[in-house]
Amino acid sequence: MSPPRDDGHVHLADYVPPAWRILHADLAFDLDPDATEVRARLVLEPDPDQPGQPLVLDGEELTLLSVAIDGRGLDAGRYTYDGRALRIEGLPGACELETRVRIHPAGNTRLEGLYTSGRLLLTQCEAEGFRRITFFADRPDVMPRWRITLRAARERYPVLLANGNPVARRELDDGRHESVWENPHPTPCYLFAIAAGELDRVTHSVRTAEGRQVELNVWADPADVARCEYALGAVERSLRWDERRFGRGYDLDVFNVVAAQDFTMGAMENKGLNIFNARYILADEATATDADFLAIESVVAHEYLHNWSGNRVTLRDWFQLSLKEGLTVFRDSEFSADLHSRAIKRIEAVRVLRGRQFAEDAGALAHPVRPDRYREISNFYTLTIYEKGAEVIRVLHTLLGEDVFRAGMDRYFADNDGRAATLEDFLAAHAAASGRDLSQFARWFSQAGTPELTITEDFNAATGDYTVTVDQHVPPTPGQPDKQPLVLPLRFALYDAAGAAITAAPETDAAINGAMVELVAARHALRWRGLRAKPLAAFNQGFAAPVKLRFAQSPAELARSVRVERDPVHRWDGLQRLATRAILSRDADAADALEAALADLLTDAAADPAFVAECLVLPDFDTLADAVDAVDPGALLDARDALLDRLARVLAAPLQARYDAFAEAAGQGLDGAAMAARALRNACLAWLARVDASGRLAQRQFDTARSMTERGAALRCLLHFGAPGAPAALAAFREQFAADPLVTDKWIGFVVTRPDIAACDDVEALLASSWWKPANPNRVRAVLGNFQRGNPRAFHRADGAGFRLVAERLPALDATNPQVAARLLGGFEGWRRLAGPLRAQARAILDGLDGRLVSPDCRDLLARLRDS
Ligand code: BES
Ligand code: ZN
Repeated sequence: MSPPRDDGHVHLADYVPPAWRILHADLAFDLDPDATEVRARLVLEPDPDQPGQPLVLDGEELTLLSVAIDGRGLDAGRYTYDGRALRIEGLPGACELETRVRIHPAGNTRLEGLYTSGRLLLTQCEAEGFRRITFFADRPDVMPRWRITLRAARERYPVLLANGNPVARRELDDGRHESVWENPHPTPCYLFAIAAGELDRVTHSVRTAEGRQVELNVWADPADVARCEYALGAVERSLRWDERRFGRGYDLDVFNVVAAQDFTMGAMENKGLNIFNARYILADEATATDADFLAIESVVAHEYLHNWSGNRVTLRDWFQLSLKEGLTVFRDSEFSADLHSRAIKRIEAVRVLRGRQFAEDAGALAHPVRPDRYREISNFYTLTIYEKGAEVIRVLHTLLGEDVFRAGMDRYFADNDGRAATLEDFLAAHAAASGRDLSQFARWFSQAGTPELTITEDFNAATGDYTVTVDQHVPPTPGQPDKQPLVLPLRFALYDAAGAAITAAPETDAAINGAMVELVAARHALRWRGLRAKPLAAFNQGFAAPVKLRFAQSPAELARSVRVERDPVHRWDGLQRLATRAILSRDADAADALEAALADLLTDAAADPAFVAECLVLPDFDTLADAVDAVDPGALLDARDALLDRLARVLAAPLQARYDAFAEAAGQGLDGAAMAARALRNACLAWLARVDASGRLAQRQFDTARSMTERGAALRCLLHFGAPGAPAALAAFREQFAADPLVTDKWIGFVVTRPDIAACDDVEALLASSWWKPANPNRVRAVLGNFQRGNPRAFHRADGAGFRLVAERLPALDATNPQVAARLLGGFEGWRRLAGPLRAQARAILDGLDGRLVSPDCRDLLARLRDS
């Protein structure tokens, strides 16, 4: 890493290795919410290639108490501390530095560094929070081994946790006690963690494939510990899966997970001590939905899987962020696909990509999977780093196949274990294992923007020649006007008039691998000869190429493809395309074809209910908005509602029949069949409720609900479609769960996403109520995040009231927690694509924020939003 240039940006090209290495870090904490003292002993060694450099350590908001070298205190004249860095000149060479500092956890509202959540003391260090705990080289390529001593009052902090293995405990005088931890693996400071307080646990001991006995613990507030069992099971499933699928074992004697109510992100993979937002731990069927259970399992897996992809092999610098995040999202999505339904998992991923990542890649904040500069790294934990990054790994997996990919991963882990790696190291391992040249593939990391594939077909009835031309184009993005072609694996299938697959391979200048063509040039042609009639073509099955496909098929062709295609993702996609056509082009044939296809699906008793449920969810606002040039949210949502209302009326009988048929199966339990039954019933209910003014069905489901999955969906329908029973149901729900902040967040979410511009008043009322807790990130997301992202109608209100609701809170939120504020500010990323007057509203609001946001996070985003 290197300091920022004059342009205020840190640049990838400026990377220099650390001038000083830290071989060992011995930290001792005297914990107290008002004044914690941190003593750090660091064993230092200069880089032999950079001798004579001053020692410069990061440190922010630290009260410096003392500095010593090799046991001798330094006079104030021997060092400087300017509030950002401690600088010591003229060190002889290898030495031991000891610093003592004081910090103030209870005053830390940013939730970075050491902070309090209720009566707990917790840390969050990624990306650059460790510098708020003690003086250190706060960069991921400095990887000492650690010894951590925690001391605190025994009554108030009976449990003291840190990274690694516990090695000693003892009682101290005056009611304090001490706990010592050792982390023998070279670990960067962003993975440092401690947790202290009154915690209870669920625990389970497992023996790993390598024969290590490991204690798995999930810790929470004693009142919540009964809801930790599911997360504990998910830890064990993750451990077993990484052994099986990637041959990766766990490497400490304990694996601790702690649930926290105040946490900015979802969860954090600290070595041996993951810290989680409580929403990704606590669950039982009365308070959590099926979607919550699945999210918990996948987040637990994600953080667990980082132990290899991120921790054992870490990052050279933050530009490589996707090397841990994209790779780990790929790994956790494979975990979920292996344990549950691969098709459903893929459909969900495609929805997120299309609805959210494509929009990011087309908006003001577009950036490559590996950015080449940043002002504030916190702003780069984006859908592009995560989801597109995972897609790029998936492309590699598709090109290489499972076995060669696995060999490449084995090599990557072996060659880089205990090291700080780059994306080049990752590609080098895969190039070596596969014998392939991956230099063109690397463009996926450096080029922003979603590739567009345009397919044109030509059938010559006289010769029977069927020719397909595939053009690829990556659109310009901020700072990147010109793009080069990417390597894209495109799956294809042709069907004859009877629906049978045509298996003949096409003639082409591109490499063919079974039913997949590897596109490498801006244009390729595929030709089949001697066909009797124009075939029905299907491209990009499984969404193996994460692209926008432009292939002008008629509604009849799309409908046929839904019928004959075997790949469920492609069948689902055919329905999505029909719906998009029906909504955006008001194409009556598309609407008719969609209606017929859905009727078929609903009456097909053999169809997988989970799949049918997915098919019933039509493209959302974000996905539709991405497909038009100027977004008029009201008109777009009106068109969507009109289609949904019509289909709901026509399909009411089969929807009701499915709803009734699965009543029994939907009862309780987390097995796939019960979850699928609930998913299908709730999808049917959402359609039926739109055309049932009495709200009878939703009311009955609410009154007789057997789980939060049933109760929540029913309440949502009552509120969103204005049923007479809505206010009473809301009040009952609110009362029942008033003591549970996570369930409270749920009803708040339903209220603020009511698809009516009057929802702005409800948000206003919440902001004025005692439910509004701006210091709690979950609550801010529940009120404002859900409103902004989940209520496109009210957020985009023509008078700008929706924008103002969010914008007016930003200065205060920014002063409290810059990362939370920056996320909300990022919700304006699509403003330039809005039609006329609304765009002017958005611009005025962004201009009005200038000078009122103080954090580097928000200032960076605001500049990018306004400059674009
Ligand atoms: N390393 C991140 C957590 C993180 C993100 C810390 C940003 C600091 C800044 C963690 O592994 C992660 O990616 N968490 C996700 C959830 C995950 C399942 C995608 C999160 O917190 O949203
Ligand atoms: Zn992660």
